[in-house]
Amino acid sequence: MAENKFDLTIIGTGPGGYVCAIRASQLGMKVAVVEKRGTHGGTCLNVGCIPSKALLHASELFDEANHGFESFGIKVSPELDLPTMMKHKTDTVKGNVTGIDYLFKKNKITSFLGTGKISGAGKVVVTDEKGAETEIESKSIVIATGSDVAGIPGVDIDEKMVLSSTGALDLKKVPKKMVVVGAGVIGLELGSVWRRLGTEVTVVEYLDRILPGMDDEIAKNFQRILKKQGIEFKLASKVTGVEKAGNGAEVTIEPAKGGDSETIKTDVVLAAIGRTPYTEGLGLEDVGVKKDNRGRITVNEQYETSVKGIYAIGDVIEGPMLAHKAEEEGVALAEMISGQAGHVNYNIIPSVVYTYPEIAAVGKTEEQLKEEGTAYVTGKFPFTANGRAKANRQTDGFVKVLADKTTDRVLGVHIVGPMAGEMIGEAAVLMEFGGSAEDLARTCHAHPTLTEAIKEAALDAGKRVIHM
Ligand code: NAI
Repeated sequence: MAENKFDLTIIGTGPGGYVCAIRASQLGMKVAVVEKRGTHGGTCLNVGCIPSKALLHASELFDEANHGFESFGIKVSPELDLPTMMKHKTDTVKGNVTGIDYLFKKNKITSFLGTGKISGAGKVVVTDEKGAETEIESKSIVIATGSDVAGIPGVDIDEKMVLSSTGALDLKKVPKKMVVVGAGVIGLELGSVWRRLGTEVTVVEYLDRILPGMDDEIAKNFQRILKKQGIEFKLASKVTGVEKAGNGAEVTIEPAKGGDSETIKTDVVLAAIGRTPYTEGLGLEDVGVKKDNRGRITVNEQYETSVKGIYAIGDVIEGPMLAHKAEEEGVALAEMISGQAGHVNYNIIPSVVYTYPEIAAVGKTEEQLKEEGTAYVTGKFPFTANGRAKANRQTDGFVKVLADKTTDRVLGVHIVGPMAGEMIGEAAVLMEFGGSAEDLARTCHAHPTLTEAIKEAALDAGKRVIHM
């Protein structure tokens, strides 16, 4: 094959794109990737999941040193060194993105740095920083361009006073006050980071609850915990304007249903009201790739768009905007293009909020089961009754197991608690194998571990919990 002729060309090297590239290469395809950011890894590695976890971990340690160490008999007077904490974040990102360069080299994937535009079926033009164009011919093209921050109507995100998640990961000093718009994953994770470092955080949420989509009971319990930590909530409220006032901002808030407005003074505002699919500049209209009314690229079960040979995966298509969902789609697509039976089980995609404590869930919520009329049993177990959680002084939260009333098959597992994101894996594996609550309850769990709370919740579903 000539130099710029490929079997598969992927535009966008976030978790969906880079994983698809590696799997396709493993399957013998000649693969190219096109990335305009300058480094691979997309939002997740550069300005999302990875840097936020670096700051969440570091800020949690700081908070622990400030408020938790004394009860363990450790006396310290911690002092924040924000530049070093930020360097830890930058180094973490660097380590991860250079890891992708290594993986591309190892898998003989050709990387084009520049903006990719589909100029016709089988053709991608890459324009680099200097404006030089390179044309790529490719049997198949994958759009994996991800998503972008959704702005608040009428409010300009300048990354100084009004921040997106990108700006909130890169503040040079700890703001005294922060208004977070949106009680979703980004708002609660980044709100937590700055609260721990000393900021007074107020979260304004349009709905009358936090974390829409998560199990209601879990969300309510979690909100109480966050309140105890010092985060203020204004639910059923919307932000209608942000004005510059002195060195900070004045945020106008109205009840979601209408009514008298109020203003809050703050230093910075974090806009975290969701993300929108990013398809700008790809030339989709010209080649005839169709989108739905929410701007998502429409695909069939093989991830093929309305144009033969052009595929799309990840945040640009329907489904939760999660890195691991995009990765699974990348693998399935590469396998399907090479003639194998790729498959993603959309019923078993875990979701995690990396706050303290963490929230983790897989499968159906109680509200979903009620709505679809499925008869189910519930098993619950609080961390206050778990020996390891007590020894760690991490007793906030509980585990909830939902199982089919007739078959006992596990339909959903929801955790608010320490290390919930690590623990949810065992529930996902069990559910992939169609396991029952009894399977979970009869599996020997090491003692003392936090995972015993999952076993006990499963025992409780069968009305034979031991430690309660
Ligand atoms: P989100 O969709 O999770 O939450 C946005 C929240 O903003 C919702 O609760 C919504 O009701 C509220 N909202 C919308 N308009 C509003 C308004 N005008 N005033 C007040 N509230 C308003 O979106 P978020 O947190 O921005 O995250 C974006 C995407 O990134 C999500 O799909 C999320 O799943 C993903 N993500 C996942 C992470 C993880 O898995 N740990 C971490 C960060 C982001």
